[in-house]
Parts: sequence; structure tokens; C-alpha cells
Amino acid sequence: MKVKDVLQALDTITGGRCVRDAADLNNGKNRFVLTKSSGIPGKACTEIPGLVYGNPDAPLKKIAVVMTLTESGIELAAATGIEVIIAHHPIADGASCGGVTLCDYLSLYGIAVFELHEAFHGLHPGIAYIHGHRAFRKDIAYCGIPGNVLFVGRVLEGIVTLGDIIDRINLFSGSDEEMEMLSAERRVRKCPSIDETTVSTRGKILLGDRKDRVNTIIHIFPHTGFTAEQLAMAKAEHPEADTVIASISRLPSDHEILKTAAGLGLNLLLGNSHALEILENGLPLAAAVQKLLPEAQVFIFRERVTSTPIGMAGNPMVREYADTMAEQYLVPRKSIPN
Ligand SMILES: [Fe+2]
Ligand SMILES: [Fe+2]
Repeated sequence: MKVKDVLQALDTITGGRCVRDAADLNNGKNRFVLTKSSGIPGKACTEIPGLVYGNPDAPLKKIAVVMTLTESGIELAAATGIEVIIAHHPIADGASCGGVTLCDYLSLYGIAVFELHEAFHGLHPGIAYIHGHRAFRKDIAYCGIPGNVLFVGRVLEGIVTLGDIIDRINLFSGSDEEMEMLSAERRVRKCPSIDETTVSTRGKILLGDRKDRVNTIIHIFPHTGFTAEQLAMAKAEHPEADTVIASISRLPSDHEILKTAAGLGLNLLLGNSHALEILENGLPLAAAVQKLLPEAQVFIFRERVTSTPIGMAGNPMVREYADTMAEQYLVPRKSIPN
């Protein structure tokens, strides 16, 4: 097996959406070669579905699938003999690799990296499925805005109430296990105030009650730019809709979308957060790669992000070190407020 077999596998999975050679990059023919920019000078990033860095002819035994490439992922890959990392989110030079260039870091360890983001979206119905519905409408450019995603779906058999949806997403995400992990961590680190993403962002009903019935769902992804006006339009197009699910990103409690949903008589719940996309998209991608490359050993690299008050982070020795560095080198004494 070689690194280029992964490219073939990803091209098979996506039905030919990958970049195969440099000409694909600039000829505008591959609509999945996309530059995303907030307009911040120098911060744009171009997605290139396929091989981003590495030798296509290098031999391959172990593959890791990650959501977002980071220096921790690169270090874990190197330490455990991974030759290929497939990242779902786009890779940026100087950013996805601990602040140095990809080529310097990855060549040191002989790791090849692939990315597969928008070219992977929409290939499977899993996100709706995990949230208890089957989408009969999937718009990836609602109101003509690329990336502004809207699903409209009807509940799966056995889903009757909002509580059924919350219970289902908790089961799929192993929510009990995550809470147990967090309790153990709080105990071991002797810090009851540690928080962790998946526990802090568990599914939640913001409008309605666990016992309220659900039938037709408008499923939105607020971080894609979906607006309150667009929700009103979607409800007008699908008057039978009774419930809004917002997933991947959350809605702040004072968000316009909430007021609009309440005004339209819609219930609203928050589903899985972005931290669970590794299960929603990463795991199916890894499973597909494993099926196409049965001789490879495929691994999931899963992040677990925790928050700890500074006074409890690390151990007493390293806290004292941090304090000394800050006091003696970083903060002029006269700048410290009394
Ligand atoms: Fe995604
Ligand atoms: Fe994502």
C-alpha cells in the first residue's frame, strides 16, 4: 500500500471530488477547491480535497482520521507510526502545524496529510439520522448563499417527542461515558471546576418541553450564517414544521433566531456540538477508508478540550514556574495593578 492509495480511496468515497493534479487547482473545474475568507488580510485558506503534503509513492500501513490538524495530532502520529493523516477541516500552512511550515514539520516525521471537507459534506445522511429525522430537503446554499445549510426532515420511526431526540443524541454520543470521564478527571486533578466541551454542550431544549410532540424538523447550522429571516422563510415554505434543531454550533439564548422561532410557534432544541463531528463525520469517513483499504490500520484521533481555572491548571511545581516566568520576565512590576 502507498500514500496514493488513500487519494484513490477518497476519490472513490466522494465520487471523484478530489484534486488529482496541480491543473485542477486553478482551472475552476473542481467546485470543492474553495477559498474561505472573512476578509481579514492574510488569513484566507483554500481547501484542496486530496493530498495536501507528502510523497504519493511512500509506503503506508497506518492512517489517522482527525477533525482538525494540530501539533498534538502530528506528534501523536509520529509517536505511534502513522504515515498518513486525513483531516476533515481545511489545513493551513503555519497554523495547522504548531506555527511552523507544514513541509518542515511533516518531512521531519515522514507524514503525509490529506484534507476532505466540503467535498465530504452531504455524502451521507448521518447528521439528520443521529438527530432522529430523515431529511427530505437538503439545501447546501439556502437563499443562494453557498455553505448556508438547511435540512428539512420528518422524524424517524420511534421518535415522538423532543425528549426522544435528546435521548437519542445522548446515546449516540456516549454522553454518560463523557460525564464519567469528566468526573474522573475532576477527581484525579482535585479540581471540581474543570469543564469539558462535550459535557458542557449536551443537547438541550430551549423552546418547548421534553413531552412536546415532534414531526417535521427544520435543521439549521447557525455557524454557516443562517439568519432569523431565513428561518421565517423556511417555515413559510414548510408550514407543517413544528421544531427547529440547531446543531454543530449553538445559539446564544438572546439570539434573534430564538425570538423568531418562538413567534412562529416552533419548538427549538440544540443538538450535537461541533466537538462531536468526529463521531458524526469523522468515524463514517474512517470506516469508509478502512473498507476500501482493508490492509491499513485506521485510527481516530479525538480531541478532548478541557477548561481549568489558572490557579488549578498543571501541578504546584509547574504553576510556580509559570508564576515566576510571568513575574520576572513578562510583566514589568510597575504594570501590575494594586
Ligand atoms: Fe464538516
Ligand atoms: Fe466541521
